[in-house]
Amino acid sequence: MLDILHQDHINIAKLLNVLRDILAAIRSEKPVRFNLLRDVLSYLREVADTHHHPREDLIYEYFTTYRCSDPSIVTTVLKEQHKQIVRKGEDLQELVAMILMDAVIPLDSVATALEQFIALQQQHLDYEESTIFPLLRRSLTEDDWRHLEHNWMHMTEDDPLFGREVKERYQDLAAQLLSA
Ligand SMILES: [Fe+2]
Ligand SMILES: [Fe+2]
Repeated sequence: MLDILHQDHINIAKLLNVLRDILAAIRSEKPVRFNLLRDVLSYLREVADTHHHPREDLIYEYFTTYRCSDPSIVTTVLKEQHKQIVRKGEDLQELVAMILMDAVIPLDSVATALEQFIALQQQHLDYEESTIFPLLRRSLTEDDWRHLEHNWMHMTEDDPLFGREVKERYQDLAAQLLSA
């Protein structure tokens, strides 16, 4: 299960690099592919926020309830980070939707919001990879994983970008990832 979540992290990291390229384009006043930005944000909402984080939350909750003496690290920090990522992602999505409808938005504010969003995602990812996942690997037993896996089965769905087939709405983004 952690391997799947780790693979998700690798995929998210690839998308963060696309976001960094877009940020660099905004900063250097080069043409910005706002459609691509929209697609990345939409993927992160669709997959990270609705599949990846809930799966993690399931494990974190289990861990906190049965295996952890100090629940504050996992419940408070990580759940708060997940919520913050959703909020910032939604704000950014709104901003990009307005730009795509030709509203006049100062590019500076887009760049700042995007930079903060990338930092937040990266920080969260690094924290899980460096601290939380190793802690889970050390603490949870085979039985724990079996139990969790059982609950997880209901949450499995094919990834629309990195899964077996790329869905129509992510074709552009997939092409961009291939060329990067
Ligand atoms: Fe997470
Ligand atoms: Fe994660």
